[in-house]
Amino acid sequence: MRIEPMPGPFGATVSGVDTASPVASEVIESLWQALYEHHILLLTGQHFDAPAYSAFGRQWGDPIMFFNPADRDPELPELIQIRNDANTPPERRDGAMHWHQDSTYETVPAAITMLAAVEAPAGANATLFADAVAAYETLESATKRRIDGLRVVHSPGGGAPELAFHGEYRGRGKRDEGRVWREVTHPLVWRHPDTGRPALHGISGTAVGIEGMPRDDAIALLIELKSHVTHDEFVQTATANVGTILIWDNFAVLHRATATKYSDTDGERRRIYRYSTRTIRPSRTARSASVRAGT
Ligand SMILES: [Fe+2]
Repeated sequence: MRIEPMPGPFGATVSGVDTASPVASEVIESLWQALYEHHILLLTGQHFDAPAYSAFGRQWGDPIMFFNPADRDPELPELIQIRNDANTPPERRDGAMHWHQDSTYETVPAAITMLAAVEAPAGANATLFADAVAAYETLESATKRRIDGLRVVHSPGGGAPELAFHGEYRGRGKRDEGRVWREVTHPLVWRHPDTGRPALHGISGTAVGIEGMPRDDAIALLIELKSHVTHDEFVQTATANVGTILIWDNFAVLHRATATKYSDTDGERRRIYRYSTRTIRPSRTARSASVRAGT
């Protein structure tokens, strides 16, 4: 296995790992280590097969079943399908083109997420990442004191419109599955469940306010922090092309998709599988292999 830093502020490319069959536990441990060191990993040279990919995902941890059954693969419901079918209704397009961390509307959000493409248009399909650890580290001391201990309120219905930079958000419709969805809160500065490093968390995406703070003040603070973390010096780009698996640490980075052309034409079709888990590196976790609700 070879791990090489990507050009740019963070991220690493990994070669020499074959995920088509079960990966040795020592290799998975090395990948956890590399992920926590580099925030995002791009595994190259993969021969994609949905069942094998799902099995590889399970080597990291149990899946998060996506809230909307319509987005789940019919055969392997732990895999979320991301597609660009031309008949996709407007309200369901470009649902991830805003800066966010995954599943922040859940009581326990996603720890890691991975993407693999069955089909992807050439020169498209990139994901942008922003380093929430470095962004926190570079804040003024006074700002750190101001935000430590705050809790962000997240709405299952989507984030505050004022937090949408350059028209990021589009409606996604109401969440289903017969669940009762309520607002949840998470720490604004979440110390990584494994490394302990503090990072900005949930300052965009489904954020609608800060617990105990007037709404206008909360939104202004979130906008200030989001402007900081999405500054060019903290942003990296990676692409889950066919033959790669892209993995990221949601406690270290925010991410957003880039524009997709909706098309059924050969060469323009996009079919990607997402797998997310709440698990953190098991061997370093004495009490649990899963993230707990932030306290
Ligand atoms: Fe996402």
